[in-house]
Amino acid sequence: MVVIRIRNSHRRHYALLCFSIAGFIIYNYIGMQPRVKRMSRREGLSANSSLFTLEGEEFRLLGGSIHYFRVPRAYWKDRLMKMKACGINTLTTYVPWNLHEPERGVFNFHRQLDLEAYLNLAAEVGLWVILRPGPYICSEMDLGGLPSWLMRDENMKLRTTYPGFTEAVNTFFDKLIPKVVPLQFKKGGPIIAVQVENEYGSYAKDENYMPFIKEALQSRGIDELLLTSDNQEGLKHGGVKGALKSINLQKLKPEGLKYLDAIQPLSPKLVMEYWAGWFDAWGDLHHVFAAEDMVAVVRKILKKGMSVNLYMFHGGTNFGFMSGALAKPSYKALITSYDYDAPLTEAGDYTPKYHLLRDLFGRYHTKKLPEMPPLRWKEAYEAAIMYQHLSLWDALQFTGEPFRSMRSVNMESLPVNNGNGQSYGYTLYETTITSGGLLHSGDNVRDRALVFVDRHFIGIFKRKSLELAVPDGKGKRTLSLLVENCGRVHYGNSLDNQRKGLVGDVVFNNTPLRNFTVYSLDMKPSFIEHLSAASWKYLPAVPSFPGFFQGRLFVDGYPSDTFIKLPGWSKGLVFINGQNLGRYWSIGPQQALYLPGPWLNSGINQVIVFEEQEADSKIHFEDAPDLGMTVDV
Ligand code: GLA
Repeated sequence: MVVIRIRNSHRRHYALLCFSIAGFIIYNYIGMQPRVKRMSRREGLSANSSLFTLEGEEFRLLGGSIHYFRVPRAYWKDRLMKMKACGINTLTTYVPWNLHEPERGVFNFHRQLDLEAYLNLAAEVGLWVILRPGPYICSEMDLGGLPSWLMRDENMKLRTTYPGFTEAVNTFFDKLIPKVVPLQFKKGGPIIAVQVENEYGSYAKDENYMPFIKEALQSRGIDELLLTSDNQEGLKHGGVKGALKSINLQKLKPEGLKYLDAIQPLSPKLVMEYWAGWFDAWGDLHHVFAAEDMVAVVRKILKKGMSVNLYMFHGGTNFGFMSGALAKPSYKALITSYDYDAPLTEAGDYTPKYHLLRDLFGRYHTKKLPEMPPLRWKEAYEAAIMYQHLSLWDALQFTGEPFRSMRSVNMESLPVNNGNGQSYGYTLYETTITSGGLLHSGDNVRDRALVFVDRHFIGIFKRKSLELAVPDGKGKRTLSLLVENCGRVHYGNSLDNQRKGLVGDVVFNNTPLRNFTVYSLDMKPSFIEHLSAASWKYLPAVPSFPGFFQGRLFVDGYPSDTFIKLPGWSKGLVFINGQNLGRYWSIGPQQALYLPGPWLNSGINQVIVFEEQEADSKIHFEDAPDLGMTVDV
């Protein structure tokens, strides 16, 4: 038999081969990983003296935040290489629970959310990582990155040891933490530290909570340095035993640093979030922080021997419905761009901040910094003619069965998405009225509602306008409220109070409205896909609103980044090839939406705009961003 013959004739060679392979492996293992290195890898990032040490050697942490979920995956490497070329040695990133577990027990760690791939890429580029897994992350995300399905429990107490919360955290961590454990420094990976929760000192509702999160991380195998991060005020109530405290700031105030020094005199000082710019809200101006002023503070921080992490080094985009909202002084929804006036722009371009920082950080390296990666081309494509129209009312048949309810019901409690309720987007509530009169929202409309009678627009409920006149009319008429979740508050004490849709009675002529038919319009990709089966009409001279408008963007050759402008449109969403780019709103400050080239095809691309009130027949593509009029932070 052939096999035996071969075995017999080659037995000696075979033994020799095995021996030399084993020898080769041992030789290389010892050769490539000197004994001293393997030993020091047992040490990890240490905060036992006034300077950090890594592998036993002094280490100045020069960090920068880039969130994988805010940058198209095809650009991860480009952005990380630009970060490395600026002299940053450590990447910091949050992990958004709401995106990774969109329905209870249903996890997504793929494609745009492939955290392991992102961390491996960081290692490949030569960056260490500080992981910030929350579970609450703030970060200007809807509900600070917590999943909205948590709020189906009406007794929910977010960020506490309330069992309904801790059980959900445990389930998430059971899935997340095993993915990152092998990527820790001492296991040969890039993760040198892990942050416990986020600015809990500013919330501080439950003294058992931080120990619970710490234990949840460690019991699952996290054994690198733990740290907490708090702003100047929060620092007083922040921290957890056994974790290094760090501070978040923008302007250097001596009090904050003094306090940190007093509570941790012998530990390294880390500014975990040095805010390189700031975020923007709809209806406000675009925040900028002068490059020279910003870099001057970084220079001072470094001169004091401290370590620093730039939040953000590159902000990216709040695609889809990611963005959160401010609670104070009054509710304000945040814009789609997360440019943050950071050293790299939303589209990954270099700014004066980048150049100044590169010059500064370069002095803290013994080797020359890598070359700066080339810029990417931006294209001003031909305008897309929006030649097709579909009214919202004709699109309702694609939403799935409407739900009937005697009383109004908030969107998280709707019986949709496999019992997880609706997280984002719009909810349409319809009922019958038989007269005109006065409608009072009683602050129960979260956050904005377009109101219709027999599908004719009659007015808007906003957070501040709580009254609306309904014109007289005969017989039974349909009253419709199209309620938008404009973003849940991401920071502050009111997190438990962020349910959306109709959160209580809307009163009509002193009687609460009843008998609703409710449509969930979460605008998921599957819904947008189903719309292709709808009977779209040629765009009429006077289209009905709200409505979907469809056109094509033609890309000649290799697709490039571009910026969408919508003059003559008022408020809505843009979908490119089914991807939700986010909200636009004519009140600004943001006037153009970033459209990354990798999301375009060469040739024809489908463009769908959902517009609430007012449209033009075209949308435009420009080769530069427009984040609106600016104001200094
Ligand atoms: C805090 C939070 C961050 C972010 C910044 C402001 O420091 O920790 O998540 O919200 O504020 O951008």
